Amino acid sequence: MGLCTALKKVSRRGKIVVLVGLLLSVLAWKATVSGETDKTVHVNSASTQTLVREEKLREKLNTWTVAPSYSNILAEKVDCPEESPLLVGASKLSFESSLNLKDVENENKGLTKGEYEPSDCKAMHSVAILIPHRNREKHLLYLLQNLHPFLQRQQLHYAIYVIHQAGDATFNRAKLLNVGYLEAIKDFSWECFIFHDVDLVPENDHNLYICDQQPKHLVVGRNVTGYKLRYKGYFGGVTAMTKDQFFQVNGFSNNYWGWGGEDDDLRVRVELQKMKILRPPADVARYTMVFHKRDSGNQVNRNRMNLLGQTTKMWRTDGLNSCKYETLSVARYPLYVNITVDIGRP
Ligand SMILES: *[C@@H]1O[C@H](CO)[C@@H](O)[C@H](O)[C@H]1NC(C)=O
Ligand SMILES: *[C@@H]1O[C@H](CO)[C@@H](O)[C@H](O)[C@H]1NC(C)=O
Repeated sequence: MGLCTALKKVSRRGKIVVLVGLLLSVLAWKATVSGETDKTVHVNSASTQTLVREEKLREKLNTWTVAPSYSNILAEKVDCPEESPLLVGASKLSFESSLNLKDVENENKGLTKGEYEPSDCKAMHSVAILIPHRNREKHLLYLLQNLHPFLQRQQLHYAIYVIHQAGDATFNRAKLLNVGYLEAIKDFSWECFIFHDVDLVPENDHNLYICDQQPKHLVVGRNVTGYKLRYKGYFGGVTAMTKDQFFQVNGFSNNYWGWGGEDDDLRVRVELQKMKILRPPADVARYTMVFHKRDSGNQVNRNRMNLLGQTTKMWRTDGLNSCKYETLSVARYPLYVNITVDIGRP
């Protein structure tokens, strides 16, 4: 008891000492401040500058340290659901003539160098989209604008590759797609490839851009043909094959210069392997074809029937295993990878 009161007394005296000390130092500080206003201002601005600098550094540090911990989170992400809850079905497409690349980039911020992964779950499919291209910048823009949100609603891990044919030799869609496959595989072991024409925009996100046990043809209907299959056996426009299926048929032929025939050739290759072409339901596999005239440099291939007659004989030696080209540049833009190639001439 006695000790306790003694302590209390001491602490009360202690408090008083502290209070008096504080009072004195406040007075002393006031004196300095009024005497040296300039200095104070100077000190203040210096300290805010330091703060700003510190903040910047912290931001930087965060971006450095966030990366590894973010990939830890990635490893722990749960699998995306069997069916994406984000699908909306048929959507109204827009083709604004004033659209430019910056607009589309601003609408699609979640990509890195043409590649996307869902942020909240682990994608069940890794898909490379290959788009053969030359002189179709506007069509490419429309496609990118619609395809990115479409693929993201399907919760896919994907990348878009534009394979750009350099020079003015006749266009060769099939060979460009072989190049796309061979080049994309250097980036990542994509399990599934979508061979995609630049002028076809999918209308319904239930048309899943994933591969199956058998090769898939995704274009049943197009607005330009009244949404009917062009002809029985049509295997053009947009197709999906696994890495192995495409390898097994030795890819596309490299010898189809100009428009037409190369898609039928691929169908023959697929059939020779006793594979069967699958198609999604007609009400889902619908596309809008953006209007265009036949490009110069992509005239109808008059030799196509002749070539088609030789597929059975040729497929083993004409394809992925004989695809010669020179990669001129690989540019990784936010929305796609641009692979520019010299594929020679007919
Ligand atoms: C298909 O849709 C595109 C884009 O809206 C349009 O330019 C084209 O005229 C349409 N074609 C037909 C036959 O409806
Ligand atoms: C791809 O790159 C080539 C070479 O730089 C360029 O000429 C072409 O316009 C680019 N194409 C696209 C669609 O970005």
